[in-house]
Amino acid sequence: MNPPDKPLSSIVEAIGHTPMVRLSRIIPKSGASVALKLESMNPGGSTKDRIALALVNAAEREGRLRPGGTIVEATAGNTGIALAMVAAVRGYRAIFYVPDKMSADKIRLLGAYGAEVRVVKDVPRSDPLNYQHQARQLAEELPNAAYMGQFEHPANPDAHFATTGPEIWDQCGREMVAFVAGAGTGGTISGIGRYLKSKNPEIAVVGADPVGSIFTGSYQPFQIEGMGEDYYPQTLDTAVVDRWVAVSDADAFAMAKRLAREEGILAGGSTGAILVVALQVAEDFPAPSTVVALAPDTGRNYLSGFFGRNLLPDANLPIESDKAQSVGHDR
Ligand SMILES: Cc1ncc(COP(=O)(O)O)c(C=O)c1O
Repeated sequence: MNPPDKPLSSIVEAIGHTPMVRLSRIIPKSGASVALKLESMNPGGSTKDRIALALVNAAEREGRLRPGGTIVEATAGNTGIALAMVAAVRGYRAIFYVPDKMSADKIRLLGAYGAEVRVVKDVPRSDPLNYQHQARQLAEELPNAAYMGQFEHPANPDAHFATTGPEIWDQCGREMVAFVAGAGTGGTISGIGRYLKSKNPEIAVVGADPVGSIFTGSYQPFQIEGMGEDYYPQTLDTAVVDRWVAVSDADAFAMAKRLAREEGILAGGSTGAILVVALQVAEDFPAPSTVVALAPDTGRNYLSGFFGRNLLPDANLPIESDKAQSVGHDR
């Protein structure tokens, strides 16, 4: 967080050590507080910088990625942006498959880093044309290409166990009662959750999930990007998650707008969803308890999405959102 006192040898050395901010206007009635771990402060703009570096290091170590090689990945955007940044530094070509619901901002960002982008129809994983299958197939066909495998490779949760978890513990460990995150690959919640529970098993780990994702119900399309799935990825350790809470697109986007206007924190729709859940969880605890919530990325990724469109009502969400429904199966 403090700027390093000498020049870094590359931008990837700036990954991690993100700040945590305690909210001062969006506060629960209980007197507990919510602190946001701002992963947008990573140089690539999201929490995925951490795993991109770990996945590339793992592929190099395993001999799957050699000089002049190509990085291939299926990504909802942020992992691609992070991998494109690492690829630029290490001299790799980068090709990404992204589902067509992804924001135009994120797709442009991939191009800005010099990556090649293949936008494919957003179909469930059971469909052979799903973006993950297409990416894996290309990596098999293309010489000297490596599939990064963020949905399978243990380097993903391990990166959060090794870096984000200890940072959160150092920033807030003594007072924190719960940790809230979303789950796409599940790497974030599994790695951080595992670390925090190793320090204090009493810390509740709560997953925020879009209505329509299968972690809290049956699958139907939803608009929130980066979190929620139509299957259980290998990188998600459900045993670490004590409880899941579902949040609608509208509540998530309204909360992200509130966060920008009342706290000056411009974050994505997934942060809105995670914050809705964090506020609910915080109502169960008295002062001076702190609920830590992880904010995965910046709202700048969504200026052509929910921040730009005025499709959704600018709802003044109540702190105890009764619209966010807990489907509440404990894992
Ligand atoms: C934008 C974004 N990316 C990624 C993730 C999920 O991270 P992971 O793939 O580690 O589960 C989230 C979760 O909230 C997210 O909002």
